[in-house]
Amino acid sequence: MNIQTPVNGAELYRKLQALNDDAYTREVCERHAATIAEIMRLKKERRAVILAHNYQRPEIFEVADFIGDSLELARRSSEVRDAEMIVFCGVHFMAETAKVFNPDRMVLLPDMRAGCSLADAVTAEALADRKAELLALYPDLKVVSYVNCTADVKALSDACCTSANAVRVVNAIAAEHILFVPDKNLANYVQTQTSKQIISWDGNCYVHHQITPDEVEKVRAGIPGVVVLAHPECRKDVLAIADAVLSTSAMVRYAEQSPADKFLIVTECGLSDRLLMELPDKHFFKACKLCRYMKMITLAGARDSLVNLRYEITLPDEVREGARRALERMLELGA
Ligand code: 13P
Ligand code: SF4
Repeated sequence: MNIQTPVNGAELYRKLQALNDDAYTREVCERHAATIAEIMRLKKERRAVILAHNYQRPEIFEVADFIGDSLELARRSSEVRDAEMIVFCGVHFMAETAKVFNPDRMVLLPDMRAGCSLADAVTAEALADRKAELLALYPDLKVVSYVNCTADVKALSDACCTSANAVRVVNAIAAEHILFVPDKNLANYVQTQTSKQIISWDGNCYVHHQITPDEVEKVRAGIPGVVVLAHPECRKDVLAIADAVLSTSAMVRYAEQSPADKFLIVTECGLSDRLLMELPDKHFFKACKLCRYMKMITLAGARDSLVNLRYEITLPDEVREGARRALERMLELGA
């Protein structure tokens, strides 16, 4: 999805009706439309592009030059050409990835509180210690880090991966023993898809980890024929009962192409908002889980980021170069 058109309050109100969300009153939509117009003007003045993750608020989608999953955003940020700056509407590790690929461009994150429970689960020091311990046991060991980690953790990794290419990266890397950080649920899922030995880390996404099979089964029982799409950050007992296990953008493609018209979207609710707006003829049932970090980014925050050029992401050269090597390896192996 790529929406560039500024909208007025009435148009925005009509569009957001698809969400069936009481928070989007006429008055709120009028206010958002005025801020959207301001952001569009500032983007031109500053020669800025806005990249947004699928979990962002629907009004953020209106100002984004590109909306996607982690893999698409990493690729997109490596392809930015005609812009002086990038405003990243997502979380801190994603903005760092944009900086890794754009050392000479300003990269802004509108709110520095936009972190991630997975990225908090592993530090470079702890990873270095564990890697040394495991290398003594398995001399062929390689480290694959899910992109939901800090740049200094990426710099210590042999390759990164996202939920869209984790299995391909693990299968392609030249090692039988893989230390996979930081998401234990994604590690478990990858283990079901590979003959290699995956050694996992004890991290999780607090949004996906709280979803239980009971919740999913209750919805399924109440909506005959509903297709259950689950994100691989979910627990293995949830993945076991899903019809498909997919990254966020892969869910969009699946829902577009499937003849089914009812889906339970087992991931953060921003993705369901995107689906409700893009595919109005199909029915999407939400997991009702919000990521507090993703939702730190607001329209007013994005505007203030452009006005005040804040908050700038910086990385030491050696961390940036190390992270770039691991991210580029991901793009090669996962292609
Ligand atoms: P994807 O959009 O890559 O599936 O990742 C989900 C996520 O949790 C990002 O924080
Ligand atoms: Fe991190 Fe989970 Fe939020 Fe994604 S949804 S940013 S993995 S806490």
